Amino acid sequence: MGRRVGILTAGGDCPGLNATIRGAAKALYQKFGEDVEIVGIRNGYAGLISGDAQEMKQSDFSGILTTGGTILGTQRTPFKMMQVVEDDGIDKVARMKKTYHKLGLDCLLCLGGNGTHKTANLLRSEGLNVIGLPKTIDNDIWGTDVTFGFHTAVDIATEVIDRIHTTASSHRRVMVIELMGNKAGWLTLYSGIAGGADIILIPEQPYDIGNVVKAIDRRNEKGRTFSILAVAEGAYDVQEAKMKKKERAAYRAERGLKTATTRIAADIERITGFETRIAVPGHIQRGGSPSAYDRVLATQFGTYAAKLVEEEHYGVAVAMVNGEVVDHPLEEIAGKSKLVPADCPMLEVARSMGVSLG
Ligand code: F6P
Repeated sequence: MGRRVGILTAGGDCPGLNATIRGAAKALYQKFGEDVEIVGIRNGYAGLISGDAQEMKQSDFSGILTTGGTILGTQRTPFKMMQVVEDDGIDKVARMKKTYHKLGLDCLLCLGGNGTHKTANLLRSEGLNVIGLPKTIDNDIWGTDVTFGFHTAVDIATEVIDRIHTTASSHRRVMVIELMGNKAGWLTLYSGIAGGADIILIPEQPYDIGNVVKAIDRRNEKGRTFSILAVAEGAYDVQEAKMKKKERAAYRAERGLKTATTRIAADIERITGFETRIAVPGHIQRGGSPSAYDRVLATQFGTYAAKLVEEEHYGVAVAMVNGEVVDHPLEEIAGKSKLVPADCPMLEVARSMGVSLG
């Protein structure tokens, strides 16, 4: 008996999506030969809602191991809106089920982050055969040690920090580098360590600007005339940590500085008098070819998903645990996220190196 498999990529793109699609497709063709049909759903759940899908050919999966982005397109379709009927009157869940059945799918592979897994779990509860695959540069999916895209982003962010080192030292400046991660600081922590940042600020560890300034001063006293800060976009200070969301928004609006890095840079310059600059690599961190590590990881995850399809083992999310690819029930992971815990050994590594965590 063959299989008809749908694949979609949802949420923000990242390196390794195509490598995962390829891994799943090639392994499915190996297992089923002519007896597998693969249907690509365009632009994530939006395509499932609107019925935008295409039959894929074997050749569609060639030459994509090294390419960034996603051949299927992607879109953010927030989970909180999935069960809400908006002005257009569309019942999104009903439409997704309709498309799935109209396409005659046996199962659907959903490549994405936390939001994607929540919707995948919703579809599972509605009776669809779904498999989740963990992508995100944020590395914040619960139940997996690592997500594909993360290591490539660490490599890119590390190169940014490396390059900023030379200009920071030439100009004797403080450089504040804003790295992606609204809630999770993994990318900032890992690239900060890899790039030798002097100060690493992540959302899980609210900073005290006094400690940040002290760290810069200490370096200066030792004759180090520049400092590098790796700052997650979602970092906040100890005062903000005590505030409710609305109060925090008002406090920030009052300062007129919208981002963490602008607030931190302004404070450093005001208190220390050191010339301070901000660098924002932004979506460069998600762009381009996946690293060798991510190509291998993506291929491991993709081929594992093909095995799950063969075994008709659905309603699960693929994960890496202690070097082994495993699967967890979707309902166990949906709605949870993996932030940097206070006892994370990597925080201790940073502290042992004399890195300030604010
Ligand atoms: O989830 C990945 C991520 O890159 C986050 O680190 C970042 O906060 C967000 O996506 C940016 O989203 P967008 O691409 O929609 O601006």
